[in-house]
Amino acid sequence: MTAPWTYIKDLPSREGSDVTVRGWLYNMRSSGKIHFLQLRDGTGTVQGVMVKKEVSEDDFSAAKSLWLEASVEVTGTVRKDERAPSGVELSVASVSVIQNPADEYPIGKKDHGIDFLLDHRHLWLRSSRQQAIMRIRERVIWSAREFLHNDGYLLVDSPIISGAAGEGVSGLFEIDYFDSKAYLAQTGQLYAEAAAAAFGKVYCFGPTFRAEKSKTRRHLTEFWMLEPEVAFFDHKANMDLQERLVCHIVSSVLEHCGSELAALERDVSKLENIKAPFYHLQYGEAIKMLKELGSDTPYGEDLGNDDETILTQQFDRPVFIECYPKSVKAFYMKEHPENPDLVLCDDLLAPEGYGEIIGGSQREDSYDRLVARIREQGLPEEPYDWYLDLRRYGTFVHSGFGMGIERVVAWIAGLQHIREAIPWPRTIYRLKP
Ligand code: 4AD
Ligand code: MG
Repeated sequence: MTAPWTYIKDLPSREGSDVTVRGWLYNMRSSGKIHFLQLRDGTGTVQGVMVKKEVSEDDFSAAKSLWLEASVEVTGTVRKDERAPSGVELSVASVSVIQNPADEYPIGKKDHGIDFLLDHRHLWLRSSRQQAIMRIRERVIWSAREFLHNDGYLLVDSPIISGAAGEGVSGLFEIDYFDSKAYLAQTGQLYAEAAAAAFGKVYCFGPTFRAEKSKTRRHLTEFWMLEPEVAFFDHKANMDLQERLVCHIVSSVLEHCGSELAALERDVSKLENIKAPFYHLQYGEAIKMLKELGSDTPYGEDLGNDDETILTQQFDRPVFIECYPKSVKAFYMKEHPENPDLVLCDDLLAPEGYGEIIGGSQREDSYDRLVARIREQGLPEEPYDWYLDLRRYGTFVHSGFGMGIERVVAWIAGLQHIREAIPWPRTIYRLKP
């Protein structure tokens, strides 16, 4: 039988037709007279039912000797099956083996340790759990870009190789750049600010790098950041945009990724609850609340990972922590008009212990104050001369933020650790695969 190549996701609409599925064997049961072949092709899974007396003897015995993850081309008829999740199964007429592995697939049904799984990330991605996570990741990115595009934001890409530090000098990856040194971008923000002066509402989106030696469940050395930057938005309008964006992302994932969330056993009631308005705490209030919760972080210091965990366990929706001390934040944040020790910034923390998913601020728009901040922080001035030009030629109130894609995916998908939220995690000790 020859039949048209059909993706598994399209099988429910092809009931009664003959089709060919190309994919991999992800499971098999056999009763002697029937093989049940579980097939996947990246778009879905389907059970192929192979009855001994309905197929050639060669095909039947070839199928019996298949290892998991054998690549195959299976031809058969799509039949209704109420018990199947998709409502159909495949009544197999023939199996053509593209490759039967020489030995057993390394990731079997055993429980493997995390290091083993990460060493086999290239194979681990085939598991149903990883497939669900990657689909949610795609939906997070897609829905964020859809939201921004529909709201009139222009994507203006920023460079990855740069001559200046974005977030401060610690945690920079330095590279040889011909006869000089360059850095991998920690943020695209400074370029997004220049783009905002050109186009008004912009964002950049790309990989960013931090040579942080943090071994937490929230830190990667390479992660993807979406950074809107908006002309004439102040601190408040900035937070409002963050709230709308996060609500849109969550509702889009709920709408389109129901089966993925179910595969991950995510409690979707927690996500359904993510609606505006989010909570707001001033930095000082957060420190006070943390003290009551048993933290010893003093006023004046940045919140630690554990602080964010215990704080966000108290909330059922994201919470903005506003106006941190100047001393713990980056040089470009605008001074608080009523308290020069604080800046007009916000961190948006996701509930259920997830912590920071967004960091944002109103930007310092005064040339003199910005120069003073650069000097105060002991940063070299020359690499920032172009950035200072933005405060020389038509300076403007503006604000923006960076949303870490993997942090958002980890929260929405309910992951224990950020390393599963990116296809190829990069951490201090992991560069392979
Ligand atoms: O708070 P951050 O450092 O802010 C900035 O880089 C600003 N320049 C962004 C802007 O205003 N345009 O980082 C922003 C977000 C964090 O909230 C977090 O979600 C994510 O980026 N992030 C990380 N994600 C994974 N691993 C890391 N090491 C991360 N560091 C920051
Ligand atoms: Mg931050």
